Amino acid sequence: MEFDIETLVRENIKKMKPYSSARDEFSGEASIFLDANENSFGSPLPVAYNRYPDPLQSKLKEKISQIKGVPSKNIFLGNGSDEAIDLLFRAFCEPGIDNVIIFPPTYGMYEVCAEVNNVKIKKVPLTEKFQLNLEAIEEAIDSHTKLIFVCSPNNPTGNSIDRNDIEVLLNNFEGLVVIDEAYINYAKQKTFIPELTEYPNLVVMQTFSKAWGLAGLRLGMAFAGLPIINYLNKVKYPYNINQSTQQLALEALNGVDKINVWVKTAVEQREWLKEKLAALSITQIVYPSDANFLLVKMKDATTIYNHLMSKGIIVRDRSKVILCNDSLRITVGTADENEQLISELKEYK
Ligand SMILES: Cc1ncc(COP(=O)(O)O)c(C=O)c1O
Repeated sequence: MEFDIETLVRENIKKMKPYSSARDEFSGEASIFLDANENSFGSPLPVAYNRYPDPLQSKLKEKISQIKGVPSKNIFLGNGSDEAIDLLFRAFCEPGIDNVIIFPPTYGMYEVCAEVNNVKIKKVPLTEKFQLNLEAIEEAIDSHTKLIFVCSPNNPTGNSIDRNDIEVLLNNFEGLVVIDEAYINYAKQKTFIPELTEYPNLVVMQTFSKAWGLAGLRLGMAFAGLPIINYLNKVKYPYNINQSTQQLALEALNGVDKINVWVKTAVEQREWLKEKLAALSITQIVYPSDANFLLVKMKDATTIYNHLMSKGIIVRDRSKVILCNDSLRITVGTADENEQLISELKEYK
């Protein structure tokens, strides 16, 4: 398969001249910075925020590079992985002409970003086993299909998508295959990051919002070949990752041991919760999960959802979602939270 990024990127993006910030034009050491119209006197906080942050987040990428084993130049950082999703549309999909493929039930932002960007979305539902329907996908692909989003482990079903099926897409699709690995830390399946050297059409997305416990900071990662990363950088806002996020994420990356312990505990708690939920008479199916949540088919999910809400426990009612009728998506909590959840469900009549 021939892969040529220039045939995928929008013409206007190819031709445009990106914004060049003061920090792009000079990033070395100096004693007096009079180039960016910042407040030279300081900021009214204990930490100085009066200077613009590094537009390409080089220190943070260096550290992520060491942890992930991906060269810095192959890393894009966004204001959550949601930013990377949106930028993929803006760089590669011509509004009103191009289309993308998603596999419902899946993460909602792929469709929202498609709609915001006026890009047609083709939906090829997962099979009953929540796996890819390769024949239907092949039929859905046309010459204007630019992106295919594979969420693995998938939200809201929790399962990983069969690796061989994803490889079929990578080997045959001439657009970009975007694998959203937001929940990969909880999965038995391995990340596709090592495959980046083999597939120029691969984009792997991960986030600091789940296992890393930093949803409030808004930091997401996209890993891809240099031509793709260059286009994402070309269209992003100049200072898309703020200074506090860059500094705090750098600090947090020293806490990898703590994250590993929490991941292990979350997986243990997931298995505990799975067993307890399965034993309830109101439960029909607890689906297998490779993530930090469980999709549970119940008898009358919406009433159970309301019961839990009245007790101050909020889960996600997914019963209106395709293939998820009567299903709740329940995030794995702490041991105490999970025990309370089970005890409230036992109370439910
Ligand atoms: C599959 C998936 N991808 C991405 C995100 C969003 O990640 P971020 O917080 O980095 O924007 C979520 C959040 O729930 C998700 O479930």
